[in-house]
This record gives sequence, structure tokens and C-alpha cells, in this order.
Amino acid sequence: MDLELTEEQKLVQKSVREFAESEVRPLAKEHDETGRFPRALFQKAAQLGLTGVPFPEKEGGAGFDYVAYTIVIEEISRCCASTGVILSVQNSLYGDPIHRYGTEEQKEKFLLPYTRGEKVGCYALTEPQAGSNAAALQTRAVKKGDAYVLNGTKAWITCGGEADAAIVYVNTDPAKGEKGITAIVVEKGTPGFQVGKEEKKLGIHATACCELIFTDCAVPVANRIGNEGEGYKIALATLDGGRVGIAAQATGIAQGAFEAALKYSQERLAFGHPISQFQAIQFMLADMSTEIDAARLLNRKAAWKQDTGARFTMDAALAKLFASEMATRVAHKAIQIHGGNGYSREYPVERNYRDARITEIYEGTSEIQRLVISSWVLRS
Ligand code: CAA
Repeated sequence: MDLELTEEQKLVQKSVREFAESEVRPLAKEHDETGRFPRALFQKAAQLGLTGVPFPEKEGGAGFDYVAYTIVIEEISRCCASTGVILSVQNSLYGDPIHRYGTEEQKEKFLLPYTRGEKVGCYALTEPQAGSNAAALQTRAVKKGDAYVLNGTKAWITCGGEADAAIVYVNTDPAKGEKGITAIVVEKGTPGFQVGKEEKKLGIHATACCELIFTDCAVPVANRIGNEGEGYKIALATLDGGRVGIAAQATGIAQGAFEAALKYSQERLAFGHPISQFQAIQFMLADMSTEIDAARLLNRKAAWKQDTGARFTMDAALAKLFASEMATRVAHKAIQIHGGNGYSREYPVERNYRDARITEIYEGTSEIQRLVISSWVLRS
């Protein structure tokens, strides 16, 4: 693994940072306050290839590697965490399983318009009673002729309220438990498919995070991704890439909070001096900087492993666990450096603090990451 970015990765970083500063940052506060899904911004991001970063050009993608993908998600999340996770879901949770397991016809229909940013996709695994224990999902699909008939409810689906299609994980053979889980693409407008309540959340307000409800919803068998019973493995393998994206999101949130705190500490006067001249503040800045760098290195290592084609489950879990808990610590310190102003909505660190917290929960809680890591440690 080469720690120096390639010329292409540096170019991606430069152009995405410019885009994030000029287009994403000015809207971040408004998106947080209104909860409006940034559809127009999503389409602008698509023009830069950000809705299909790691996919080949013939699949409508930008053809970059996964290290470049982490740079994209970090740079966007540095300015707006909602937009960061929306792009992460589009690339990793929705696009990746179709890229890896889809047929040519499925890629034509369910990948191309999505990598091009014409449509929004989402990933529907979680249910009201099945979060960490994803294998316990209750949504059922019964094959009738050339269709599957779906019944059940999915919960906490990022982009669910806006998505043009969802990859829905259902059980087609409950007697087989997790080996009965199957992945099926369901398009918006399919009779029996309805968006349920939108979640009112602590942070990442603009993600259209909703319930999805399926009532006798008939979907063509041709929409099945992989074989019947392969859905659980597809879901877990997809989450490896998703966790790399969330580690990048967390790193970006922390970087944004750190930069705001650094600037504030150089401008704010106390006892006749900028507060950056006090060791208490300097040590916080030092710790924040160290932790962000460590998280970024773990994140890039996981992405580099992903680029090699080797299994990167443990690397993704390490990166996500450290980066997410780090982001909460860094955002906490960023508020502390801002003092009372940090608690005000006038300053971005308050939003950073709320946004950071989810990265410890979605795409596998910190406890799930520790389970995954310890299972790999114990088998080696
Ligand atoms: N790649 C390929 N295959 C994999 C795999 C991977 N990464 N992970 C597991 N598998 C395979 C295993 O080899 C195994 O295959 P066999 O049956 O042939 O041996 C099979 O899949 C099952 O694997 P495990 O036995 O390891 O699975 P488990 O049931 O013990 O996993 C768990 C338990 C770790 C708790 C897992 O259920 C898990 O990660 N839960 C968390 C779910 C989660 O992260 N949900 C997030 C929802 S999505 C979200 O949050 C989106 C959003 O809003 C942004």
C-alpha cells in the first residue's frame, strides 16, 4: 500500500473539494434545518461522476478506485454529512450489489440510470424488529408464477422516501432461516409498495429516512439479484463496502469540525489572547488531528484492500469502528473549543456533533463491528 495519493486521486480530491465548498457547504445548514432531500445537488454531483465513483464507464461509472471513493465521501461529508451518506448509499449499498451480482439486463435497468444520477437507489435490510440481527428479518416473498409477492415492513431506510428503487432483502424460504434470504429490486410505483413514516432524527436530517411497506406487492422474478437464498451473503458482503463509506463519512465530519474549531481558536480572544495560545486548547487540537489522521489511514487501508479484490471485512469493520467513535470525540472537542457558541446553531460544530453520532450506529453498530473484528482475530 502506497500512502502517497496517485495523480488521479489527487485530482479527484481537488475537484470534489472545490465542488463541496462551492455547492455543498452553502446548502448544508438549510438541509439540516428543513430536512429537504438534496435532489438537485445529487444531480450536480452526478455530473462529476459522484453517483457512480467506482464503477466502470460501461456501467455509467467514473471508473475510479475505492481509495478515490473514500476521498469523495470524506470531502462531501466535510461540508454536509447528509449528502455524504446519500452518495455512499447510492454507490455502495445500492450500486455495488447490482454491479457485482446483477445480470447485464439488470445492470442496464437498475444500475445505469443510478450511476448516472438520474435515479436514486436505496438498500432495505433493516426492519422494526431486525436491526443488528439482520438474519431475523420477517419480510416474506412468495413465488407465484413469474412474480414474487412481498409482504412486510422495512425501517430506517436511508433515501427510502426519495428512492426510485430499493434492493429489498426478503425471506423466500423461512424454514431455512438466513439461508432463505433473497435480494429483490422493487421499483417505486409498483402496486403494493408504499413509503411509510419518515424518521425524525437527531442528525443527518436531509436523508429521507423512511419506512417502506410492502402489501401483496408483486415484483417480477427477473428483479431478483443473485439466486434465492443468497441474499444474506449479498447483504453482508455489501455492508463491507458500505462500512468503508461510513468510515469516510465519519472522517469527513470530524475533519470539518476540526477545521471549524481550529479557525475559531485563532479568532476568539480570551484573557487578552487568541484561545489557540492556551495549552488546553492546543492539546485538544493535537488530539483531534492525531485521531483524524489515524482514522483516515485505516479508511484508506480498507479501501486499498477492497481495490486488491481480497476479502476486506475486518479492515472495513476496523475503519468504521475507529472513525465513527473518533468523529463523536472530535465533534465533542470542537464544541468545547467553541464554548457557548459551540452549543448554538449559528456554528456548524453543533450539527457536526449530531451528525457524527449516527456513524456509530448505522451499517452496523460499534458493538457489531467489535463482534466482526473479534471473530476475525480469534480465527487467525
Ligand atoms: N462477504 C462474503 N460473505 C460473507 C460476508 C462477507 N462480508 N459476511 C458473511 N458472509 C457469509 C459467511 O461466510 C456465511 O456463509 P456460510 O453460511 O456459507 O458459512 C454467511 O455469510 C453468514 O455469515 P456469518 O455466519 O458470519 O453471519 P452472522 O449471522 O454470524 O452475522 C452479524 C452476524 C455480524 C451480526 C451480521 O448480521 C451483521 O453484520 N449485522 C448488522 C447488520 C447491519 O449492519 N445492518 C445495517 C443496516 S443497513 C444501514 O444501516 C443502511 C443505512 O441506513 C445507511
